[in-house]
Parts: sequence; C-alpha cells; structure tokens
Amino acid sequence: MDNNRVYIFDTTLRDGEQSPGASMNVEEKVVVAKQLAKLGVDIIEAGFAFSSPGDFEAIKRIAEEVEGPVVCSLARAKPADIDSAYGALKAAKKPRIHTFISTSDIHLKHQFRMTRDEALKCAVDMVERASGYVTDVEFSPMDASRSEPNYLYEVIEAVIRAGATTINIPDTVGYSLPHLFGRLIKGIKENVPNIDKAIISVHCHNDLGLAVANSLSAVINGARQVECTVNGIGERAGNASLEEIAMIIKTRADELGLTTGINTEQIFPASRLISSITGMKVQANKAIVGDNAFAHESGIHQDGLLKEKTTYEIMSPESVGIAASTLVLGKHSGRHAFRERLKELGYELSDDDLNKAFERFKRLADKKKVVFDEDLEALVQDEVLRPDIAEKYVLKSLQANGGTESLPRAEVELFVDGIPVKESGEGDGPVDAAFKVVARITGTGSELLRYAVNAITEGTDAQGEVSVRLKENDYIVIGQGAHTDIIVASVRAYINALNKLEYRKVLKKEGLIEKKGKVVL
Ligand code: KIV
Ligand code: ZN
Repeated sequence: MDNNRVYIFDTTLRDGEQSPGASMNVEEKVVVAKQLAKLGVDIIEAGFAFSSPGDFEAIKRIAEEVEGPVVCSLARAKPADIDSAYGALKAAKKPRIHTFISTSDIHLKHQFRMTRDEALKCAVDMVERASGYVTDVEFSPMDASRSEPNYLYEVIEAVIRAGATTINIPDTVGYSLPHLFGRLIKGIKENVPNIDKAIISVHCHNDLGLAVANSLSAVINGARQVECTVNGIGERAGNASLEEIAMIIKTRADELGLTTGINTEQIFPASRLISSITGMKVQANKAIVGDNAFAHESGIHQDGLLKEKTTYEIMSPESVGIAASTLVLGKHSGRHAFRERLKELGYELSDDDLNKAFERFKRLADKKKVVFDEDLEALVQDEVLRPDIAEKYVLKSLQANGGTESLPRAEVELFVDGIPVKESGEGDGPVDAAFKVVARITGTGSELLRYAVNAITEGTDAQGEVSVRLKENDYIVIGQGAHTDIIVASVRAYINALNKLEYRKVLKKEGLIEKKGKVVL
C-alpha cells in the first residue's frame, strides 16, 4: 500500500443527500454515481439501504451499473440493516458495508439508551455479521470526537479484531478543532495495538466551518481516508468538501507529500451536476467551484495576472475543469454533437431519452441564439431526470397574461390521471394566477413555503429555473422546472412538486414508507 495515498470516500449520495431539500431520485443518483466514478473517487457511499426502498434501489442500481469505485451502503449496527446493505450491494464488484454506533456517553445515554459494554458488544457482533458477507467492512464510532478516548480505543481494537478493515472517526456534530482532531488520530495510532490492520478514515461536519481543516489535520496525523461530499453538502452545515480536500492535497503536495486518485478536471462538472440535480446553488465565493473562485476583479491583480499567471493564481481554472468558454451548441448542431456534449457533462442517456432531450434542445435553440452548458443541464434535468414521477398531473397547455393594464389571468389545462381538465382564474400576477388554477384543479392542500427563480445563463432570452418548496402534513418536497418562459417554468416546478407529494401517498398506501418517514423521491 502506498502510504502517501489518501483515499477519497464520497458520501454525496448518503450524507450529502441528507441536506434539507437535496433528495435525489434513483435515476439522478445513478447519474451522479457515474460522474463520481469519472472523478476518480475511491469509494461511493451510495445510500443507506435499510432506510427506504428508494435508497435500496439506488444502491442496487449503482452496484450493478457503476464500474471502478468500491460501492458502499451505510447500516446501523442492527442485523436487519446489515442484511439489507448486503442485499443491495450483492452485484457490486467491490462491495463495502459501513456500520456505525455511537461511542460518546451523551449519545449512549440519551439516544441509544445503552451502556458502554452493550454498545461495544453490539459493534463487534455487527462487524462480525458484515464480515460474513463482505471482506471490506467499515466501522464508525459515531460522535467519536466527544467520546472518552480510552473507551474509543477499546472499541476500535475490538472491531478490528472482529473484521473491520476501515475505522472511520466522525466529528459528527462538527465540534472539534484542528489541533484536537489531529491529536485524536495520533492517540488512536499510538494506543490501539492492532491499528496497523485498518485504514483510519475521518468524517467531519462543518458546523463551525472547520470540516476541511479538521480532516486535513487528521490526514497530517496519519488518517488515510477522507469522507467528503461534492460542494460540501450534507447534514446541517454539511461535510468536508471533496473539491477542497482534493485541491489542497494537489496544490500543496510540496508541503504535504500526499496524493489522491482524483481526476481534478472532473471537479467542476461534478459540482455543477450536483448543484443542478439538487437545486442547491453553490455560493459565489465558495473555494474551487464558486463563480468567483477564479474571477480577479482588482486592477492590480489583473495587471499581475496578465504579466504572469502565478502572481495571483495558485491553481488554474482548467485544472479543476472550468473551461475557458462554456458556449457549446447552437441550432445547427446535430444529434451526435448533442450526445457527445451531454456525455462530457456527465449524462449518458438512453436513445429514447436522448430523442426527447434533443427535440427539446432544438426548440430551445430556435428561441435562444446560444445554448450554454447550463441550459443543457437544465434541459436534461427537466425533461429526462426529473420526470413527473407518478405522472398523476401533466401540463398540457398554459396561457397566462399580466401587465400594467389588465388583471393577471391564467388558463391551465392539465392531464389528471390521463383525463384533461381545463380551468382559468385570476391572481396577483400571472404566476400567482397560474398557481391558483393548478391548486384548484389538483385540490392540493399543500402550503407553498418557497418560490425561487434563477436565470440559468445571461441575457433576456436565458432559461429561467424555478424551484418551489411545498409542505403537506410535515412532509416537504422540492419541485423544479426550467423554460425560457418563466411562467411555464414555474408551473412545471409546481406540478413536479405536486407529483412528488402524490407519489409519496402511493408509497404510503403500499406500506413502502418507513415509520420514520424517509422516502427518497
Ligand atoms: O456524521 C456521522 O457521524 C455520520 C456517521 C454515520 C458516519 O454520518
Ligand atoms: Zn455525517
């Protein structure tokens, strides 16, 4: 084993997907996993098999279809979880089961209601059970950074004896500090006699903005796997950001002497893919992938750059996959060029889906002078990956008008379970009018929590991307839609969200939703 190699364990599809509003459907997860494989991550945590039928199915599909990385499922330290993880991973060439239980007194007392001895026994039993299925077993002592060190050492030693090959140390609540977290890893290396039989991994949350710094400190002290997510998405303030970890290791190889297997030119496409699929925008000043990460505004900096790039640029935009120009296709582009460009953006579509997307592209290219990558991404999202899941409601036609002189009105025709229903009405602006009509046709009792519009590219002919957040009986869904006509984009987003709520009702009726209510749409 190369001792300077840091393994990248991507948990975008598991912890990342736990970000509020970031849920992805199975098809979207497969697309993301394929891009992660291109990016060169070593391990893909594809989900938490036992948590929902959607997660199980996504892990299974990724295990069957994605070549290269190890495919992993999370499992609580419970027999049914471990069995379900293996059930989903069976087809993977390189399967890993990742099981966890808390080791901090705070969690054991209040959440798990277990003694330390009980938790230790449970961890050992479940690692043994997982080892009966696969040779690659990861164990996480959850809330490790707030656990009593001697007990933590004891648990780690025992689970390694039971078959764990990776020991992941989570800073579950993002409480640690770089020097303390580094010291914790050093302590584990010095006090766990059989630690040389396992790889030490870290999993840091960003509650205090220290996830990357804590992970780096761990690596400096001997950890050789980092758990991270694209764009740093994840529970609460998120996880350590994959792109930052990878580019720190690459850019400061002089100081750190470490490497990863990340193909850094795939970083930006991966970031864009995740952002457009989840609807979670990347902040402009985000390191590596933010809009401003390579934008030099100051005259002095610009002057320096023109003379010599290294004056103000520690890494090039090209090295993270930001192309000089994102202008790609126009109305004369053919199907072949279209397919190739989508492939470069991480989308490999079936012939049917490609035909649907190409037709839509042609219509778009007729309206817009130039079609940017962002337009293509939105188009594939809207037309292919985010189909109206249950197809209960489908938009047939829409007419809306507003302006300063007339009362805003909308006429909407929907297919409801295949039957056309047309209604019209007024509102406070054309979007409001259209939403009121859709609400009347569908009889929805949902509450609109958020409505957001974003121009995908520049210019008044840009496509608008609309995201709506709906709540019904404590369940929240996000709907998205894109179109050059903002009212159409809005209604598509609204219908997409309503269909997700309907889909959930179907799953509930069929008993496919777990008690805790998680379902992946
Ligand atoms: O944050 C955490 O502790 C986790 C574990 C399941 C690894 O996500
Ligand atoms: Zn986590």
